[in-house]
Amino acid sequence: MTVRAPRPTVAGPEFGPESPFPLRLSGPVIKGFGRGSKELQIPTANIPISGLSVGGCSEIESGVYFGLASLNLPATDTRPKVFPMVMSIGWNPFYRNAVRSVEVHIIHDFAEDFYGVEMRLLVLGWIRPELDYVSKDALIEDIKTDIRVGLESLKRETYKKFESDPYLFEFGDAGVKEENGEKL
Ligand SMILES: Cc1cc2nc3c(=O)[nH]c(=O)nc-3n(C[C@H](O)[C@H](O)[C@H](O)COP(=O)(O)O)c2cc1C
Repeated sequence: MTVRAPRPTVAGPEFGPESPFPLRLSGPVIKGFGRGSKELQIPTANIPISGLSVGGCSEIESGVYFGLASLNLPATDTRPKVFPMVMSIGWNPFYRNAVRSVEVHIIHDFAEDFYGVEMRLLVLGWIRPELDYVSKDALIEDIKTDIRVGLESLKRETYKKFESDPYLFEFGDAGVKEENGEKL
């Protein structure tokens, strides 16, 4: 049996994001394969891969990243809310996907889905490469570690200050404007 070395508890340099970070991506939340919440119990909000070219980062390496996400939720009466997030860009080797995808796990409990809502991402650092796993449990364990690493990394003042970055609040008219009255 191989025992994996313990993973570092934070990612990214102490002094703050280093080039090419922060990366800025945006797009409407689209449906993924639906495995995130059902099979893994880790819901993901996906954006079209074209979001990468919009952000000027079509060359972005596959892997797992951490940063901040904001959502233009219809029920938000004040400014858009900002949440910590971890993100996977790649082919999901464990599931042998045929398309590259951008999958974001927002570290927050949402009561409802929010497909169609405009999401903005400020990617602040890289956590690890995308890996294949011997089991689904091993994948879940690693994503849970990513979540802990993402949260720890974002606690540092040099990263926390990005919570007020104007990019996260500059939504156009792209947000869903439906009446639904429900707080997400
Ligand atoms: C933070 C994070 C890390 C991930 N890391 C990997 C990985 O290393 N290997 C992999 O095959 N998939 C990885 N995934 C992708 C999951 O397999 C994917 O979220 C799952 O297939 C659900 O996809 P769906 O929402 O499109 O159904 C990761 C996802 C997230 C959110």
